[in-house]
Amino acid sequence: MQHKNRTIEQINLEAVWKTELVFALLLVKALRKAVPDMILDYKFSVVTPERGKGGIDEADAPVFAQMLEKAGVDMLHVAQANHTGNMADTIPPMGVQPYGFFAEISGKVKEAVSIPVSTVGRIITPEMAEEILASGKADMVGIGRGLLADADWAKKAANHDFCDIRLCISCNKGCTDKIQHREFLSCVLNAENGYEGTRKILPAETPKHLVIIGGGAAGMEAARVAAQKGHRVTLFEQNTKLGGQLELACVPPRKEEMRRFTEYLSHCMKQDAITLRLGEKATPEKILALNPDHVILAVGAHSFHFPIKGIDQPCVCDAWDILRGTTQVYGK
Ligand SMILES: Cc1cc2nc3c(=O)[nH]c(=O)nc-3n(C[C@H](O)[C@H](O)[C@H](O)COP(=O)(O)O)c2cc1C
Ligand code: SF4
Repeated sequence: MQHKNRTIEQINLEAVWKTELVFALLLVKALRKAVPDMILDYKFSVVTPERGKGGIDEADAPVFAQMLEKAGVDMLHVAQANHTGNMADTIPPMGVQPYGFFAEISGKVKEAVSIPVSTVGRIITPEMAEEILASGKADMVGIGRGLLADADWAKKAANHDFCDIRLCISCNKGCTDKIQHREFLSCVLNAENGYEGTRKILPAETPKHLVIIGGGAAGMEAARVAAQKGHRVTLFEQNTKLGGQLELACVPPRKEEMRRFTEYLSHCMKQDAITLRLGEKATPEKILALNPDHVILAVGAHSFHFPIKGIDQPCVCDAWDILRGTTQVYGK
């Protein structure tokens, strides 16, 4: 139901709105009375005709926000509706919703109230956060998955160390998928996630020299952690560019957001402890000449061609080759 342009007084709450909203107002009033000195930040779930279930309609949101302010709420956190709807509406994976997709709505709510308003949803970088704040659409921004990918997001942003932030790629694999399957929450990019208190990268007792073969995600992550522990690393990558198969994974539509991880890891390779040997195949002679303490093989997986009849026909293609652009597909 929509009540555009109505004032609070014109709306007979009980008659036209869901009882949940009346309950919310009664709850806020009771809480205000019970904890007068505590800050009440209200998670203000908004649904639009295109997105979400189980929140207030976008058109009614500004008026209801005024009611909440009047009832005693100190702050509003304008966000997507709860999980009674589609997960892609609430915690959207890459490419499904635009960046900062709740900023416009929070801007409309902010115009209606005098209390601080925050927004959340696909705010990936500090630059995106700054842009929303500068536009006046929110007084504060919330970062959800970004903090799972890098718990020091805010600290690095405050220090202007933007390139050091391991940015969330909105894959939903480690976090949302895990909790949906009743498993322990994690992040595919951050092995320390969930173990911040106990799992730490500490300096090695004996610094060593490692040779790493492969400059994909695994090789670069191994190099990053080894260097942080104080080891010296020589990394061989046969291509002239880092990234390995992540470069291919970024090719299909909507998947380019994965490139953020390649960029982060490539940035981490720029340190004195890591020697990059790009465009070089690691041979036994080259490895022995370096006399390393350990060698880490991180050469990735290869596609397997089954020895079946017809495999060599022109209509049978290797997915890797299609993504690389070395095979063109056409026809049926
Ligand atoms: C693992 C996980 C659990 C979440 N649980 C809740 C929740 O219980 N209640 C809620 O209102 N939002 C929940 N959210 C939504 C976040 O608060 C946030 O609004 C959403 O992830 C969008 O922000 P982001 O793009 O910065 O991640 C959850 C998000 C994630 C990733
Ligand atoms: S698993 Fe990590 S990178 Fe992927 S969406 Fe969740 S927090 Fe972001």
